[in-house]
Amino acid sequence: MDLRHLTARALRRASLAAGGITPLDKAANIVDSRVVWRDGFTSWLTMANAGMMDPGNLHCFNHAVERLPAGAPVVEIGAFCGLSTNLLGHFKRLHGKRNRLISVDPWMFEGAPEAAGMLGQGPVSFGEYRDHVMDSYRRNVRLFSKDDLPAAVELTSDAFFAAWDRGETVTDLWGQALKLGGGLSMVFVDGNHSYPFARRDVDNAARNLVVGGWLFLDDSGDGSGWEVTRVVDELRRDPRFRHVMANPNHLFEKVA
Ligand SMILES: C[S@@+](CC[C@H](N)C(=O)[O-])C[C@H]1O[C@@H](n2cnc3c(N)ncnc32)[C@H](O)[C@@H]1O
Repeated sequence: MDLRHLTARALRRASLAAGGITPLDKAANIVDSRVVWRDGFTSWLTMANAGMMDPGNLHCFNHAVERLPAGAPVVEIGAFCGLSTNLLGHFKRLHGKRNRLISVDPWMFEGAPEAAGMLGQGPVSFGEYRDHVMDSYRRNVRLFSKDDLPAAVELTSDAFFAAWDRGETVTDLWGQALKLGGGLSMVFVDGNHSYPFARRDVDNAARNLVVGGWLFLDDSGDGSGWEVTRVVDELRRDPRFRHVMANPNHLFEKVA
């Protein structure tokens, strides 16, 4: 047996010991030191739907969604072309969860040129690129989550949580009215990854998550280079949260 298989077995044993493996996890594998979820739908989806998902995120999604507290919505901060949206929807479907999923995104990308600027040397303006991404979100989500369409709110996460606190009603991308406010069962943080933004997202999530709810931070794996890793260090010392796993991105459970 080679080193790779030994590592895989050790990781799987550690994950089992941590209670991280469920019956559905029989489909999971170890690739590049991650527990990786595989099934037919996720394989076809990830080929057709552009996005930025670490393959380890699916195992974390599965773990959290299977254990979602009933009723309270799931909020996704940063949806881009809808890949994470459709994956969250997939795990909701697998586990029979009816919690409302809400995507929050202003579709203004970190590091993108000014609205009028061109993308590099190509023929495409930022505005055209943004329209394309938003259109992709609509098409991808309408197809792959057609049995349980999520709400999609075109706001920054700061503006969304301010509206959430005021209990406002907003109109989403599909033209549907959405009443905001109340507890949340899960927040997936994948918006602006710089420290002040990620910190505010986590503060807003922490205030609204119910006990037993989940906080998952994309691009937070040790050594990822993103400032969101600083927030992970802080969360590890935060008594309101229990660190559940790093695969390599970090998943926390709200415990108080
Ligand atoms: C890394 S992408 C998200 C990728 C997506 N989760 C996926 O699975 O492919 C980051 C997204 O965050 C959005 N974003 C940037 N700043 C934001 C903010 N302040 N609040 C919410 N979303 C933001 C961007 O428009 C972009 O679509």
